[in-house]
Amino acid sequence: MSEAKISVTFEADHDRLDSLFTSFQEQKRTDFAKAKEAFLAFKFGLQRHIVWEEDVLFPKWEENSGMMEGGPTQVMRTEHRLIGDCLEAIHQKVQEQNPDSDREEQRLLELLKSHNMKEERILYPSIDQVISDEERAAMYQAMKEIPEERYRVCCGSERP
Ligand SMILES: [Fe+2]
Ligand SMILES: [Fe+2]
Repeated sequence: MSEAKISVTFEADHDRLDSLFTSFQEQKRTDFAKAKEAFLAFKFGLQRHIVWEEDVLFPKWEENSGMMEGGPTQVMRTEHRLIGDCLEAIHQKVQEQNPDSDREEQRLLELLKSHNMKEERILYPSIDQVISDEERAAMYQAMKEIPEERYRVCCGSERP
């Protein structure tokens, strides 16, 4: 993974998360246990993705580009909070075994679509441009070292 460009790795993770969410949506009215499993994998995966971006990617980009306040990473961080709220709203219904979360799902998909598009078209390619091979290897290492407790959280706790 340390060889791959940041844009390649993060786009692949967006795609992986998209298919987990689709799997949740497709199964929630037929096999709730399976749907819940897919949702939790999606939730932990998305939380990990956001931690990777906020703790490793964005600080490096801010450092190398000199753009902090009012820059694109600030917008991305704000959108992450909206995405997180939406994720919790669906999670709440999953906990109640309630499959009627279509509206919340739609909202999350809309948020993710425009958010991911901005990252894929603008932010990731520009990160790849401002980092050296050594810096990229160090970033992958830092991502690997982030403890699971940072993102394997459920309802604000570590309970699965
Ligand atoms: Fe993001
Ligand atoms: Fe992302």
